[in-house]
Amino acid sequence: MRFDYQAQESPRGLADAFILGTDFIGGDSCALVLGDNVFYGRGFSGTLHDTASNVEKTGGGAIFGYFVKNPIAYGVVEFDSQGKALSIEEKPAAPKSHYAVPGLYFYDNEVVQIARDIKPSARGEIEITAVNNAYLNRGRLSVEVLGRGMAWLDTGTYDGLLEASNFIATIQKRQGMYVSCIEEIAYANRWINRDDLLRLAASYKTEYGEYLSYVAENL
Ligand code: G1P
Repeated sequence: MRFDYQAQESPRGLADAFILGTDFIGGDSCALVLGDNVFYGRGFSGTLHDTASNVEKTGGGAIFGYFVKNPIAYGVVEFDSQGKALSIEEKPAAPKSHYAVPGLYFYDNEVVQIARDIKPSARGEIEITAVNNAYLNRGRLSVEVLGRGMAWLDTGTYDGLLEASNFIATIQKRQGMYVSCIEEIAYANRWINRDDLLRLAASYKTEYGEYLSYVAENL
């Protein structure tokens, strides 16, 4: 697997990802995930696969809603009684619901042009919420609620980072298995074989390397 990076030199807003990434996206549909968002829950890989393939097949955009006690720091989605999304507001002072929009977005190729057409908000950013509203207004946005069994954590503050660290440490210590270990994931998907994994394990002279050997020998 190869990763390419493009730096954003100034904080122009999340939608800038689609402008900076235009060449990378080419003619494809695409996804954006914020580096400070953590998702953890059973079946989440399936949700990601299904969402990506729906957007690829039928176009439009797909985002999620997640119930939080205090949604004012987020994009907030309002639903009607049938669960249809009615509006999305960025950091509203008076939120219309408790459903925050996590930093995980799937779009068809039109997102590149939509992002180019967005005007900066009051905070001087081209907002991802404006992208989502463009899709919503065209009737082309799917908003799926992530249930309470999913953990969505935001590590954008010191407190949030500490809370997420404690959450992950608790699970890892209890199970003796790592959350989101990329080598383990590659091995489970057969992208690398046991020898590859053992070689990677040997390259770490740490507990992490011991864990990779354990995975190679036991899972
Ligand atoms: C951004 C988005 C917001 C979203 C949040 C998720 O907020 O603008 O709509 O709910 O990420 O973490 P920001 O990080 O810019 O405050």
